[in-house]
Amino acid sequence: AFAAGEKESRLAFSMVKANTLDTVTVPEGYKWEVLASWGDPMFSNAPAFNSATGGTGASQELSFGDHNDGMAMFSHNGRQILCVNNEYTNLNTLHANRTDGVPTTADDILKSKAAHGVSIVEVARKNNQWGIVKDSEFNRRITVDTEMDITGPARGHNLLKTKEDPKGVVAKGTWNNCGNGQTPWGTYLTCEENFNGYFSSSDESFSLTPEMKRYGISHKDWGYKWAMADSRFDLSKEPQEPNRAGYIVEIDPLDPTSRPKKRTAMGRFKHENAELTIASNGHVVVYLGDDERGEFLYRFVSKHKYLAGGNNRNLLEEGTLYVAKFHDNNRGEWLALTPKTTGMTEAEISIHTRMAASKVGATTMDRPEWVASNPNKIEVFCALTNNKNRGVKPNAGGDETPPTGPNPRVKNNFGQIVRWTPMDEDHTSSEFKWNLFVLAGNPAVYDDANAGSKNLNQDNMFNSPDGLKFDSKGLLWIQTDGNYSNEKGFQGQGNNQMLVGDPETGEIRRFLVGPRECEITGAAWNIERTTMFVSVQHPGEKGDSHWPDGGQSVPRSSVIAISREDGAVIG
Ligand code: FEO
Ligand code: CA
Ligand code: CA
Ligand code: CA
Repeated sequence: AFAAGEKESRLAFSMVKANTLDTVTVPEGYKWEVLASWGDPMFSNAPAFNSATGGTGASQELSFGDHNDGMAMFSHNGRQILCVNNEYTNLNTLHANRTDGVPTTADDILKSKAAHGVSIVEVARKNNQWGIVKDSEFNRRITVDTEMDITGPARGHNLLKTKEDPKGVVAKGTWNNCGNGQTPWGTYLTCEENFNGYFSSSDESFSLTPEMKRYGISHKDWGYKWAMADSRFDLSKEPQEPNRAGYIVEIDPLDPTSRPKKRTAMGRFKHENAELTIASNGHVVVYLGDDERGEFLYRFVSKHKYLAGGNNRNLLEEGTLYVAKFHDNNRGEWLALTPKTTGMTEAEISIHTRMAASKVGATTMDRPEWVASNPNKIEVFCALTNNKNRGVKPNAGGDETPPTGPNPRVKNNFGQIVRWTPMDEDHTSSEFKWNLFVLAGNPAVYDDANAGSKNLNQDNMFNSPDGLKFDSKGLLWIQTDGNYSNEKGFQGQGNNQMLVGDPETGEIRRFLVGPRECEITGAAWNIERTTMFVSVQHPGEKGDSHWPDGGQSVPRSSVIAISREDGAVIG
């Protein structure tokens, strides 16, 4: 019952309470099931998942990858093809055949490389259960060894030439694919994020360039040990290989023989997602976050225009990159990165984008994660997940990070979501207005800025917004990847979760809580929009989960399918 004049909430479900259960919790009247888990066979000649060993290189190449993240649905004659990123791996479960998850043999490395990349699977609901259609002609694994073309300004540049590819035009593979994008011409965009963590140097005296340092490349990898079996990842043997990663890759999921294309015009950094929209003047606009403390938020505007029904295949090959500068009066501007504004060539801007952005005086941000553009209104949102270094120290070789604009807190542990509105309802305008949609925090523990904004309370509070996705009604789905300790400043916030926000009213309700030690990320819908697919990534990353199989089983990253018990539309 609503009092006179009170508007009915558009968030028509009862809020899920924060919890620390080792399962998925959804509102009353909703249900969930597992669609696909790491190691599930995509082809009938693949062996069943082996939790005792984590499988082999050969089995992993034919199976669903690990750590599923961003995703998008494509349809073809009523069939449904889901593209899912496989961002990284849990070494302990992937290498269960080794002591402490340390890869030891060439086959361990092959398995690790095959667990990364993209899984393209036809999905269907049979006997009331969602699953992968085994052996579908659309099923495809794209891994760290898949050949792809380098396109755009960096193609053929000296900085991209290697022993294996002396022309700098063909790259092998994609890895650490975090968020994603989708184009109206039917292609999938996969975004290379923490590509740096896979490189190491067998020569301890190898000298790192300032550019390598700015991109987080060091003598040691993050435990993957790929250089052991693939010299591309040994800096002292192949110092330019890192310049071939950190891009947006475009894939045609309906043509399993097509070669993916690295689109260097959209810059090289730790790409989160690629939110694509068509501006009123026909140019393609892609919003892009660089997920690093003190790095930047970008916009790409295509040179050519989108033509409905026309040949749009190479629109992402040429265009201009812009970087955001936020002013404290709730105004902002997009600064173009051109040879004139940066003193760098177009190729250099595409390869060392962070340096180019520093030259024009962009605003350092609190780790820009997903960007989402409202399909029903000219406005855009970006999750700024957190930044413990805000006001403390810059990224290596980067700019100072005083609290400013939409990044108002030093040592920001909770994160916030910024919204901007392009001037003249034009996504290609150089100016915008901005405000904060929500400042996350904990009003049960703090009464200062860490309590968060007014639309946050003890019932719907959360930390570290990351995934953002609009549904067809213009509701904003918010996913978290944050502190799940449920202690001190995070007391009462429970496991990572998914909430829904109404951009019109600012109201936020918690819709889902994930199992222990996971993050919730990525979202897609079936054609009828009666099922929502979401990634549950790295459950039990520290060892405290047996989700989804229960008992004493190893935890497995999985895509889940959420639907209403009455079968009605969800989102
Ligand atoms: Fe892979 Fe920034 O999250
Ligand atoms: Ca992730
Ligand atoms: Ca993320
Ligand atoms: Ca994150």
